[in-house]
Amino acid sequence: MEGRLIVFEGVEGCGKTSQMQLCSEWLQSLDISVLLTREPGGTELGLQLRRLLLEKAENKPITEVTELLLYAADRAQHVEQELKPNLAAGKYILCDRYTDSTIAYQGYGRSLNMSLIEQLNYIATGGLASDLTIWLDVDVEVGLARKRGQEAGLDRIEQETIAFHRLVQQGYAELAASHPTRIVRVDGSLTKEAVQQIIQGILGDRLKSWLAF
Ligand code: TMP
Repeated sequence: MEGRLIVFEGVEGCGKTSQMQLCSEWLQSLDISVLLTREPGGTELGLQLRRLLLEKAENKPITEVTELLLYAADRAQHVEQELKPNLAAGKYILCDRYTDSTIAYQGYGRSLNMSLIEQLNYIATGGLASDLTIWLDVDVEVGLARKRGQEAGLDRIEQETIAFHRLVQQGYAELAASHPTRIVRVDGSLTKEAVQQIIQGILGDRLKSWLAF
């Protein structure tokens, strides 16, 4: 069986993690072999990069370009070490964030040069694109309120201004409009069960063509 790369994207608190878990259980119930992974932090090196990137910022400023390069480094390692071998082995990979996060956060959020970001995404992935990206669309304030309610508190990026998170949201909306086949918007404000039903409907349709049944 040919492997597939299915990515989950969205602003903070959009519910990716629990939807990915439910999706993984559903795919496994169909006898599909699944790998759950994430960026940043899908490899051992990536876990260290994730800690550097998301630790609270006090007295440890990270420049915007450094941030961009650290996300790219995490991705380069992840693509070579995890994504490519597992796709070659026929796995269905469910990946929490990928290249669109860099466009939304560093491109729209930080206003870094978009063509530089696209080049870095290309260098890091060697051109490996997602087969399907589910964009869980929730209002930024609703998502951040969910995060604030969690024990861990807000990380370095979550602590950014509302204006920053709104730009990220705008980034996802524009990306989805420009890539209507690859990126599918799902209303993340619905109940967990309703969101999962919609995702299974979308994935079910894609499975029919991917598995040709
Ligand atoms: P999460 O895995 O809990 O969603 O956290 C990852 C954080 O890193 C989130 O705030 C989004 C941010 N991020 C970027 O800014 N750029 C990127 O390229 C990626 C993958 C994540």
